[in-house]
Amino acid sequence: MKGVVLAGGTGSRLYPLTKITNKHLLPIYDKPMIYYPIMALVDAGIRDIMIVTGGRNSGDFLRLLANGKEFGLKHLDYTYQEGEGGIAEALSLTEHFADGGPICVMLGDNIIEGSIREAVEEFQRHPVGAKILLKEVEDAQRFGVAEIEGDRIVGIEEKPRRPKSNYAVTGIYMYDSTVYEKISRLVPSERGELEITDVNNAYIREGKMRFAFLEGWWTDAGTFDSLLRATNLVAAKRKAASARPEAAPAR
Ligand code: G1P
Repeated sequence: MKGVVLAGGTGSRLYPLTKITNKHLLPIYDKPMIYYPIMALVDAGIRDIMIVTGGRNSGDFLRLLANGKEFGLKHLDYTYQEGEGGIAEALSLTEHFADGGPICVMLGDNIIEGSIREAVEEFQRHPVGAKILLKEVEDAQRFGVAEIEGDRIVGIEEKPRRPKSNYAVTGIYMYDSTVYEKISRLVPSERGELEITDVNNAYIREGKMRFAFLEGWWTDAGTFDSLLRATNLVAAKRKAASARPEAAPAR
């Protein structure tokens, strides 16, 4: 399965940190933010990765990541999102890269403690429809929120004032190739963007959405508080790993 990291946007919630650079190039402890989703995909066994960037600093991604040697990759693919069309629009730019196959998409500001390998392998065994990863959170109104009935997701609401559950939809999505046709049918939301939640709801309506719960902590890093939280969580993880004498080299 191929992987996609979405790293466009203006990062307006982090202004003025994002006045002269892209959000995904900001540091999280000892690495630029975008390293973490790339590492998560590589850890899951994904070797073909496309980065979607945009804005004035897109060239910096190429200088930073080059061909992905630091991640054990032979090459990286890049594409450019013009304007501010939203996550689903950014994803639509990867259609030629996916080439009819399934993809695992990760938002460039999502950072996880554990591994998504098991979830990715399960989707690869049956790469039809979509699969999302959920995480229980205390501030669900900041995210897409899943409504669950029995063992099914019956709907997702984007940043609801009164969330129907505490299960946030993390920025890790697996899709079959019908995702592109679904995106082409979307209309912009109130904030003028093509929403990934609308893509997920299209799969739910078709009865083709699976889900799993993400193990370990998860955070985004698109606000001052979550950026700080991400840095603290990564630092604590790194220090805990290096304190264990038998531990594998910390990443
Ligand atoms: C986006 C999605 C939201 C998801 C979140 C995860 O929100 O729209 O559904 O829960 O990522 O990080 P945004 O960060 O664009 O506000």
